[in-house]
Amino acid sequence: MIRAAITSVGHFLPEDRLTNFDLEKLVDTNDEWIRSRTGIIERRILRDPEKATSYMATEAAREVIAKRGIDPQEIDVIIIGTVTPDMFFPATACLVQENLGIEKCWGFDVSAACSGFLFALSTGIQFITSGKHKKVLVIGADKMSSIMDYTDRNTCILFGDGAGAVLLEPAESENAIIDSIEYCDASNWEALCMPAGGSLHPASHETVDARLHHLTQEGRTIFKVAVKGMADVAVEIMEKNGLKGEDIRYLVPHQANKRIIEATARRMGITMDKVMINIHRYGNTTAGTLPLCLYDWESELRKGDNLVMASFGGGFSWGAVYVKWAYDGVRTPETSTSTSPA
Ligand code: ACO
Repeated sequence: MIRAAITSVGHFLPEDRLTNFDLEKLVDTNDEWIRSRTGIIERRILRDPEKATSYMATEAAREVIAKRGIDPQEIDVIIIGTVTPDMFFPATACLVQENLGIEKCWGFDVSAACSGFLFALSTGIQFITSGKHKKVLVIGADKMSSIMDYTDRNTCILFGDGAGAVLLEPAESENAIIDSIEYCDASNWEALCMPAGGSLHPASHETVDARLHHLTQEGRTIFKVAVKGMADVAVEIMEKNGLKGEDIRYLVPHQANKRIIEATARRMGITMDKVMINIHRYGNTTAGTLPLCLYDWESELRKGDNLVMASFGGGFSWGAVYVKWAYDGVRTPETSTSTSPA
């Protein structure tokens, strides 16, 4: 059986920071409230109006390719999780293909909000395990500032811009992606959405006046379902694979709220030193959170480490992935002498 392994990780974060103190000047909020209720201290914002999600995704992809020491032409398919594509079409994946100058590949976007990367990863795994492709670029990228209402304190304090990316290749050992679980349930879809701009409410003067081209959410509702959904699916993948808390090296959770992450860790029976948390630095970058965690912790990871990735987001859509990590420390072209992961 062919399994897929993550063989390189890349990222892009804009340099501009938006701190809690900056937000105090925009809406009726304060640093103490934001820190204690969410864990966020600052986020990154892509201010250049000429640059969009495809720019961040391309930069993250370039880093993945450089670290693995491969030729971009070897990429077979590009899959991007995003809810902030540059435009409805062409797909952001096509724009990234052009930016990278890849002559023969294909690609598409996956729309699953905060589960965008996890669903893109689950999809990418299939192309490797089926034997169809050898190099799959999976990217999570969102320019959340482009759909934020900076007059709405319920939402604008939570989100930031950023992108992360991984390369999937066929694994030659058991150090590979072992399992994945995915769900969606739209019975409460209105609790988290961007109401206008699609075919239901095409852009009009009315939709703009009503501020319907921004993300809206019922924070309390989402909080409750996210705590249950993310913890349930993380525990489900552990039980399915016979994993106990002590077997897990790291939980890699979606970064929506530090309290949701802590509740998930408690249910999994793991201590917080085994949880990747960078929400204080970047806020919720939607599809960017999981690969940005992998990037920040890459130097700590060793072959065979058990990671459980878990996400919950708009849709609602949620899931978990169980990974046995495939390489030691930060990937460089020098550590990539083989075209297959160890
Ligand atoms: N600053 C100060 N006060 C605020 C702010 C703010 N930014 N926002 C809300 N408040 C007030 C509320 O008005 C409320 O006041 P009231 O009691 O007088 O009515 C009080 O603070 C408490 O509000 P709650 O909504 O109960 O606060 P809570 O502890 O639930 O935290 C939060 C709100 C942070 C939004 C939380 O509910 C949350 O994180 N929810 C999940 C968000 C999420 O996961 N989003 C989905 C991911 S996005 C995606 O998929 C694209």
